[in-house]
Amino acid sequence: MTAKPVNLWTSNEHARDYLERADSISHRGEGEAALLEFIPPSTGRILDLGTGDGRLLALVRHAHPDTEAVAVDFSPTMLDEVRRRFAGEPSVRVVAHNMDESLPALGKFDAVISSFAIHHLVHERKRALYAEIYGLLNPGGVFCNLEHVASVSPRLHQEFLENIGFTVETEDPSNKLLDVETQLGWLREIGFGEVDCHWKWRELALLAGRRA
Ligand SMILES: C[S@@+](CC[C@H](N)C(=O)[O-])C[C@H]1O[C@@H](n2cnc3c(N)ncnc32)[C@H](O)[C@@H]1O
Repeated sequence: MTAKPVNLWTSNEHARDYLERADSISHRGEGEAALLEFIPPSTGRILDLGTGDGRLLALVRHAHPDTEAVAVDFSPTMLDEVRRRFAGEPSVRVVAHNMDESLPALGKFDAVISSFAIHHLVHERKRALYAEIYGLLNPGGVFCNLEHVASVSPRLHQEFLENIGFTVETEDPSNKLLDVETQLGWLREIGFGEVDCHWKWRELALLAGRRA
């Protein structure tokens, strides 16, 4: 029997600890600003995968106010927070779902966004999810994944962790980091066009692709 992969994100303490330090993660504002540039002006529907407290979705909706959105997460704490953030905004629907499983029927989207979430899935599931995302996009729709990716060496991994206040002993055991090249290759194989890493600082990267 294979052991279940570690994922601590359904713990209230784990989610709260992240929310307290979310604003202080080095360079994240640059990555978020880069992601905003790739959301098409004509976007009508947005899907945010692993939305947390809805931070990224709020930024994107601030730039694109006339949009409908679906926000997906499985952490009870995060679901409470995102529901609180978008209370009174009927154009945002919050869906509780474990992304280890195939996405439920959610309709079609012009932009699928995600930040620092998909690296909590095992590699095989990451790739399968990328293919599901392709299937959910309208023609011209984009997938923008601001992601935590693998370093090219243990030394650089250690340096990155130090930069964000962790060590190899204290880093999140839920992380299943994968290099940029493999993920860009998968997106191309799946059929995405204009696949690129548009921004990167150490282990934080913006991976994106567009459905023709
Ligand atoms: C580092 S937080 C990022 C949250 C938010 N996107 C942000 O940028 O602040 C990772 C998020 O992914 C969610 N997550 C991790 N594994 C998940 C899974 N298997 N299914 C659904 N959500 C998951 C966590 O609950 C958490 O909200």
